Amino acid sequence: MSYQASNDERKLKVVNLASLESQVKPRMEAGAFGYIRGGAEDEWTMQQNTEAFKHKKILPHILKGIDNANLHTSIFGIDLDTPVIEAPSAAQGLAHEKGEVDTAKGVAAAGSIFSISTYANTKIEDAAAAAPNAPQFFQLYMSKDDGFNKFILDKAVKAGAKAIILTADSTLGGYREADVLNDFQFPLPMPNLAAYSDKTGSGDGKGKGIAEIYAAAKQGLVLEDIQRVKQWTNLPVIVKGIQAAEDAEASILAGADAIWVSNHGGRQLDGGPASFDVLPAVAKTVAKRVPIIFDSGVRRGEHVFKALASGADLVAIGRPVIYGLNLGGAEGVKSVFDHINMELSITMQLAGTKTIDAVKNTTLLD
Ligand SMILES: Cc1cc2nc3c(=O)[nH]c(=O)nc-3n(C[C@H](O)[C@H](O)[C@H](O)COP(=O)(O)O)c2cc1C
Repeated sequence: MSYQASNDERKLKVVNLASLESQVKPRMEAGAFGYIRGGAEDEWTMQQNTEAFKHKKILPHILKGIDNANLHTSIFGIDLDTPVIEAPSAAQGLAHEKGEVDTAKGVAAAGSIFSISTYANTKIEDAAAAAPNAPQFFQLYMSKDDGFNKFILDKAVKAGAKAIILTADSTLGGYREADVLNDFQFPLPMPNLAAYSDKTGSGDGKGKGIAEIYAAAKQGLVLEDIQRVKQWTNLPVIVKGIQAAEDAEASILAGADAIWVSNHGGRQLDGGPASFDVLPAVAKTVAKRVPIIFDSGVRRGEHVFKALASGADLVAIGRPVIYGLNLGGAEGVKSVFDHINMELSITMQLAGTKTIDAVKNTTLLD
């Protein structure tokens, strides 16, 4: 039987982002839901990701005449209506028939950045055409085959990508037990792999498990790959998956234009720290030389606030966007952004911070 995804298009009543997971569960095939929700091994790092925001506190400030919050910010000269962006995630056709096309539209309506994964269920050019005036990044899983790397990066450049995200923490998949239990295999083709496969016969991803997909990825990724991607594209390169300050330093010296602090939502190395707990040390080392994007475990406006106050310039959300896509298509994605922006606005006002710059200058309490 062919894979059935949602085709709902509707605004959502979001009470909080965390509750979306239980709303989605009964609507999705167990294998697809397990792949999206799951983390590595005991999911300890995944749980710590959200838990860790409790390690810092926001001191309220009053009588500062702040009657609204201004969420506008920018990166690489791109103006954004919010510091919250979408984290690149593969195979969004699992969540909705329109997949990345609807996510791109919803994110554009929120005035934010959509990033398309190498392993998307939509062609890069189709996602770009879905929101032609909105900024998009392309996320690269570098292949062992430079023919593929050049081919796909060329497509991204032609589609108008504003930056390349080089994901460096997933040269192989983490051990995710839900996928083992469900014998999960991607039920839908990955057209960006298919486009190249037409020439080489390397396959389109359909019917493959995670390990088989990652087998084509370059396990031996090195710092020099940053320059190679820069030279191939002439675009800013963001290195995603940084947790160690020394990796941030080495990446900047190797030419990274931004650092993406992430542990892949706890889907890769279990037993590692929460992404939020490593952010201050990375930010100290980066010392504002390049922007920092942060993700993993962000579910509340106060989490966004705390990440910004700890050194992030932008904050990304992963699973909640996919859940919004499943529940309501492009409108559902927009509803997720509206909700977290609303929580962030309230937090900012109650903390006595009117602008994103003011949030960034806030000192959190231990
Ligand atoms: C279903 C799913 C697929 C993902 N696919 C990718 C991907 O293709 N490339 C990538 O760089 N990160 C991918 N990620 C990681 C996200 O970009 C992000 O780091 C993570 O989801 C953030 O954690 P959160 O889900 O707790 O917000 C994926 C995450 C999920 C949940």
